[in-house]
Amino acid sequence: RWEGPNQGGTWSAYPDQKPGTSGLRKRVTVFQTNEHYAENFIQSIISCIEPAERQPGLLVVGGDGRFFMKDAIKLIIQIAAANGIGHLVIGQNGIMSTPAVSCVIRKLKAVGGIILTASHNPGGPTGDFGIKYNIASGGPAPEGITDKIFQISKSLTEYHICPDLKVDISKIGKQTFEVDTFKPMTVEIVDSVESYAEMLRGIFDFNALKQLVSGANHIKVRLDAMHGVVGPYVKKIVCEELGAAADGAFNCVPKEDFGGHHPDPNLTYASDLVNAMKGGDYDLGAAFDGDGDRNMVLGKHGFFVNPSDSVAIIAANITCIPYFQKTGVKGLARSMPTSGALDNVAKALKMNLYETPTGWKFFGNLMDAGKLSLCGEESFGTGSDHIREKDGLWAVLAWMSILAHRKQSVEEIMKDHWNKFGRNFFTRYDYEEVDSDKANTMIKELEAKMFDKSFVGQKFSSGDKSYEVAVSDNFAYTDPVDGSVSKNQGLRIVFSDGSRIIFRLSGTGSAGATVRLYIDSYEKDPAKIYGDAQVMLKPLVEIALKISGLHEKTSRTGPTVIT
Ligand code: G1P
Ligand code: ZN
Repeated sequence: RWEGPNQGGTWSAYPDQKPGTSGLRKRVTVFQTNEHYAENFIQSIISCIEPAERQPGLLVVGGDGRFFMKDAIKLIIQIAAANGIGHLVIGQNGIMSTPAVSCVIRKLKAVGGIILTASHNPGGPTGDFGIKYNIASGGPAPEGITDKIFQISKSLTEYHICPDLKVDISKIGKQTFEVDTFKPMTVEIVDSVESYAEMLRGIFDFNALKQLVSGANHIKVRLDAMHGVVGPYVKKIVCEELGAAADGAFNCVPKEDFGGHHPDPNLTYASDLVNAMKGGDYDLGAAFDGDGDRNMVLGKHGFFVNPSDSVAIIAANITCIPYFQKTGVKGLARSMPTSGALDNVAKALKMNLYETPTGWKFFGNLMDAGKLSLCGEESFGTGSDHIREKDGLWAVLAWMSILAHRKQSVEEIMKDHWNKFGRNFFTRYDYEEVDSDKANTMIKELEAKMFDKSFVGQKFSSGDKSYEVAVSDNFAYTDPVDGSVSKNQGLRIVFSDGSRIIFRLSGTGSAGATVRLYIDSYEKDPAKIYGDAQVMLKPLVEIALKISGLHEKTSRTGPTVIT
């Protein structure tokens, strides 16, 4: 029997808990050194759940295994109990990938879920921690709810907690606790992988995938979990169930600090995988981020599949996936900075295409309304309406399905695609941890320049290339389902040939500002489509840097990451 609800004492609420692109993300030290910091945010989330929904309701809790996750789960259990939440379902040892949490919320018809992750940001005592709230659809809370959480977090004067309630989260099974003034609370610890694995079995043809990775003439796969949460999923699903060789699965034990690395599947931070693939021993390579929603796909010899192309390939080959044979294809979508490769497929296949602001939450409404089946972002996010998060392992199984069906290599499939649809050359430059004031000033000055009447029609040239500005705006999106408007989603310069330069400030960083520069340029000349993206896009990069004065204004000489 536990004492409660108790008041957690008095403190002044925090003004800085505004959720970003994907939940609240801060340095671990912010959570550790500010009294009741995590409690303040957790209570603010739970306060957003209607009191009448709490007792009959269920909350799913899981995270990517990073440092401070277990402390946060302990607090969530104690605060949930004191607020009358009737049922918690928690991944064993707290482990559950972001897509798996989304899957479990939907399967159990939960009120929502709390995900403990800072995604691809580094972890450990000096790294980042994050708390994210997902709603009953399984998707990230929309802005209306995150705003409400933020408002509450700024004005909270007390929270409720059962400080003596201790639950062993290592043992699978149900435990029930008496909480004063409320009905008993059930805490259920579940296998981290099973529900998600069961879902994938219903989406893909596991026999065909088994043949591909472990049958006669099987291909060799190399999967790198980067010590994030996907390790146990890769082991159980790809190795044990599909029979892929266990020695092709790397860094599969989740670590609190991701082994000291950035758990971010891109060419810079997943360089181990890139180098290993270059050796030519593997046919398909993939890496995942800390919480398992991102993926990077590589072919033999390290052939890089740009994420903007990846979603286009899946769209063009969508009938290789049994799930879509059943559901049909309701529509396609990409975030605004993502290249137009998907648009070309949509056009050819006469499918609807939606262009949304950055961040997965914008896809959710379209999916709930039955308008969207497959979507992707340039930031290594690919997914479908099977859940309401992007899904790293799903994307790799989608690629495997295509490989199994077409019996070609990754590179052949990609090149065939460019031949058929033309190619969108794409690159993204990231300038991380830039001084916030400098970054904001740069954006403001650029916006002023872009909104000057004389800007449209201006010509810019670099080398032998010349471009004329056709459109210059700050991207705004009107949600076709609920009519809500999201403004200031990225500065966009579109040239008369359709090439685009986009500038955005990241909404997921935890220190300083991250400036992102995106370049997208379409080419259909067969003599040019196999070129190197960095070489092809050099003139546009130079023009972007010239127009914005990015380097001078942020005191940088180059980006920290190039994709
Ligand atoms: C970044 C990506 C965005 C993605 C988000 C969460 O957000 O750019 O596409 O949805 O992470 O994974 P940003 O830091 O740019 O706001
Ligand atoms: Zn992630």
